Amino acid sequence: MSLLDAIADVGVDQRRGGYSRHGFDPVELELRSWFVAEAQARGLAVETDRNGTLWAWWGAPGDRAIVTGSHLDSVPGGGAFDGPLGVTSALEAVDLLRARGFTPGKPLAIAVFPEEEGGRFGVACLGSRLMTGALDPDKARRLTDPDGVTLADAVRSAGLDPAGLGRDPVGLGRIGTFVELHVEQGRGLVDLAAPVGVASSILAHGRWRFTFTGEGNHAGATMMGDRRDPMLPAAMTIAATRKAAVAGARATVGRIVPNPGGTNVIASSVTLWLDARADDTPRTRAVVADITAAAQAAALAEGCELTVTEESYGDTVHFDPVLRDDLAACLGGVPALPTGAGHDAGILAAHVPTAMLFVRNPTGVSHAPQEFAEPADCAAGSAALADVLEHLAQ
Ligand code: GLV
Ligand code: MN
Ligand code: MN
Repeated sequence: MSLLDAIADVGVDQRRGGYSRHGFDPVELELRSWFVAEAQARGLAVETDRNGTLWAWWGAPGDRAIVTGSHLDSVPGGGAFDGPLGVTSALEAVDLLRARGFTPGKPLAIAVFPEEEGGRFGVACLGSRLMTGALDPDKARRLTDPDGVTLADAVRSAGLDPAGLGRDPVGLGRIGTFVELHVEQGRGLVDLAAPVGVASSILAHGRWRFTFTGEGNHAGATMMGDRRDPMLPAAMTIAATRKAAVAGARATVGRIVPNPGGTNVIASSVTLWLDARADDTPRTRAVVADITAAAQAAALAEGCELTVTEESYGDTVHFDPVLRDDLAACLGGVPALPTGAGHDAGILAAHVPTAMLFVRNPTGVSHAPQEFAEPADCAAGSAALADVLEHLAQ
């Protein structure tokens, strides 16, 4: 049984399909315990840092470490590979290196970051943002999940001290090089007929919360001309995303919550979340500005109020070109390709030499149950990761 098969039953979402595994929820905690057991079975010493990232060390923890890893959480109703493949491949790479008789000449660690998707608390790459100082710990502690549980309470329930959240220069300083293996979230490697590639860049991207406030009322008794229905400007904002996202930009509303949310009730408020991405910050900001202008005009026309809050933002990432080319050459000249998806590697790239390996995804689908990688390609990915770790840690 493969390591991915071993966790195939954990966090299955019967209602939505796929997996729902979110930062510090019982499912993610079960996966974390599973990882700790697997790491310890390999003789790796596991520690949990102040921000809830797990570190499994081959050899004594130390500076200039070669670190690989990914995350175990998912989006709501997500696929089996986004995150877990990077973790299972890391464990398999350690097995392969041991079988080759390799002993690292530098500290080597597997890191598992919490809440990479932001599926519970809304901010993606929570663990790496906290570690690097990209997210203010006070703001982080106040984040709430859809049930109103704060991140502070969630980490406390998981056995961590919420006061310890925040920038960790010592932990960050130990990373000499970080390499994250990930399922590809597109069909680039399919088109190139390559099982494995390296990442070149990540689009600039962020998340914005739009709340429209109108007047709750009766769906039958309120004449159409008398309404201040926040669902209308919300709908027009969603339509505006299609028009605003041009020239390779992407804009998505994947989540909308009417309050109170009844079939025969005109909502009193509607909140939606915009995910916008583009080649660079000016282009991303222009997309968001266009959508915000459309939202404001639609809100005004309906007599509604609008508040817009930026929940997270990250500039374009260009992975270290020297490392990228070095790893591509080490793997026999595999292709380099860009991605529109965010990763902990993208957050770390601003601080340490960072690279990513992608494994071919024949469906090209991600953040959905159809996400896939053939077992042979997963094996090629683990072998490639082992090659890269051997190359870097000798
Ligand atoms: C995470 O995968 C993201 O790109 O949002
Ligand atoms: Mn993802
Ligand atoms: Mn991921």
